Amino acid sequence: DWTTESFVESTIQALQTKIGDDKVVMALSGGVDSTVAATLVHRAIGEQLYCIFVDNGLLRKNEFEEVLHSYQDMGLNIKGVDAVQQFYTALKGLEDPEDKRKAIGRTFIEVFDQEAHLIQDVKWLGQGTIYPDVIESVSVKGPSATIKSHHNVGGLPDFMNLKVVEPLNTLFKDEVREVGKTLGLPGSILGRHPFPGPGLAIRILGDVTAERVAILQEVDSIFIEGLKKHGLYNEVWQAGTMLLPIQSVGVMGDERTYERVVALRAVTSVDGMTADWAHLPYDFLAEISNDIINKVKGVNRVVYDISSKPPATIEWE
Ligand code: XMP
Repeated sequence: DWTTESFVESTIQALQTKIGDDKVVMALSGGVDSTVAATLVHRAIGEQLYCIFVDNGLLRKNEFEEVLHSYQDMGLNIKGVDAVQQFYTALKGLEDPEDKRKAIGRTFIEVFDQEAHLIQDVKWLGQGTIYPDVIESVSVKGPSATIKSHHNVGGLPDFMNLKVVEPLNTLFKDEVREVGKTLGLPGSILGRHPFPGPGLAIRILGDVTAERVAILQEVDSIFIEGLKKHGLYNEVWQAGTMLLPIQSVGVMGDERTYERVVALRAVTSVDGMTADWAHLPYDFLAEISNDIINKVKGVNRVVYDISSKPPATIEWE
């Protein structure tokens, strides 16, 4: 019968047999899945695993530095790549959500390709694909309609003729977390909310600029730190903020303001396929709203999203 210990042991053995003396390259995202997958591969083949962590300029506030440090602490052979300007250039002027996703996916492949070519004789591409990704990419990308093109599935295979290794593709998210715990990964990584590959780009409605990213990073950080401080972070499945492409009138002192609106989004869910809006306490929402409006220049109104999935989705784009 299945235990995480037996899964870890048999997976490491299978990886050693499969990979042998070859080199593997993996892109890490800071998320649970890619981190657990990389740790398994690292336990199997050590320094033959080359990890790449790309700063796309669309991560949360301070996330790139913090995550890079935890990867280094975990002993992974990891290279941080600053590609911020390349992503902003690719996104310039794009407003359609799918155009933004495609530009990000394309840019990511360019950056990854360039980095992977620096590793001599690399044979394998490691990926943190989990079972629901496999399902969702099949059901979502029907022949007639692509609801959203999740670029973390199916984007990289075939690429550079690398063979693909996906040690988690039979597991559900909760099993991945259990495996991560067995591997001794830090709680700060295992307990993280899911975060979309295109990052803040799909939470800035309309076109993405460095200035808008900076505003949303501040707003997001107040919300997420507030959830942690009030013991609510682990009560919700995912949380984030959206920068809306509209301005509204406000008043600050004697001055009339005309600034941006942000929406807070927090949901409860089991797997992200369906979700309910989280019934966060009013007092908490009041505090966060005040903090955001007082501290973040350019924002004068906060709304809370009370839509469930379906028919809404978790992200706004
Ligand atoms: P939706 O918005 O479809 O989101 O209800 C379901 C889950 O998927 C994440 N998401 C993405 N993840 N690339 C990703 O890697 C994407 O393009 C993408 N779009 C949505 C979303 O954050 C939620 O966890």
